[in-house]
Amino acid sequence: MGNLPPKELMPRHIGIIMDGNGRWAESRGLSRSEGHVAGAKVFRTISDYCHEIGIEVVTFYAFSTENWKRPIDEVTAIMKLFKEYLVEADEIKYERQKQGYILRFLGDIKGVPKELHHLIDKTQLDSTVENTTIVNIALNYGGRAEIVQSVKKLAEQVKSGKLNPKKITEDDISAGLYTAGMPEPDLIIRMSGEYRLSNFLTWQSAYSELWFTDVLWPDFTTDDLDRAIIEYAKRHRRFGGR
Ligand code: IPE
Ligand code: IPE
Ligand code: MG
Repeated sequence: MGNLPPKELMPRHIGIIMDGNGRWAESRGLSRSEGHVAGAKVFRTISDYCHEIGIEVVTFYAFSTENWKRPIDEVTAIMKLFKEYLVEADEIKYERQKQGYILRFLGDIKGVPKELHHLIDKTQLDSTVENTTIVNIALNYGGRAEIVQSVKKLAEQVKSGKLNPKKITEDDISAGLYTAGMPEPDLIIRMSGEYRLSNFLTWQSAYSELWFTDVLWPDFTTDDLDRAIIEYAKRHRRFGGR
C-alpha cells in the first residue's frame, strides 16, 4: 500500500476494464487462454486489494456482450475460468461476508451458460457489516444493453398506466440499471494502451475520471492501482460547475 490519499479523496467506486490478456500471452508464445488464466489471477489480487484499502465498490469488466464474437474455444476457456472462480468464491462467501466483502454480477446472466446460473445466484450474498466492499463482475455486460433493459422496464410501467412518460427522470433510468443504489464510478481504469470504454458503464461514466496505462492486465499490480488512485485524488472534478 503506497501513499494513498486520505479517505475523503479516495474514489468510492472504481471501474476496471481488464484488457490485454491475449496480447500478453501472444508476446510469450502462449495461447490466448493462458493469458486469461494469468488475468484471472490478477483479478483475484486486485479485488482483494480493493477490499484491503477500503474501496466501497469496484467493478471489473470481465466479459462484454460483444465478446461472444470470439472463437468458441477462447469463449469456452473464459467460461471455465468463471466457473472455477465461482466454485472457489462460493466456498469462502460467508467468511468474506463477515469481513465485509461481497460479490455482485452485472449483466445479462440469462445469456451465460446455464451451469453458471446457480453458482452466480448462490455467491451473491447481502452485506451484513458496515464498510462493505462490493466487488462487481460485469459478465455478458454491455452499457447500451443495460440502458435498453432499464428503458423497457419504464415502458412497461407506462403501458400499465403507472408512469406518466412526461415525468420520466434520469433517476428513473439509473434505478433500472444493474448498478442501482451504488455510487457512479469515480475512476475508470483502462490498460493495454487502448483509449476507449468499449461499452463499459456507458450511462454511469458520464462524469468519471479516466486513467490509462500501457500495462497489460496480467502485468497489472497493486502499485499500478495506487498510481491511478493517487493521480485521481489530484484531479479537479467540476461536474460542469467551476
Ligand atoms: C481482456 O483481454 C479479456 C476479455 C476481453 C475477456 P483480451 O482478450 O481482450 O486481450 P487483448 O486485448 O486481445 O490483448
Ligand atoms: C473490453 O475489452 C471488454 C472487457 C475487458 C471484458 P475488449 O478487448 O473486448 O475491447 P475492444 O474490442 O478492444 O474494444
Ligand atoms: Mg482486448
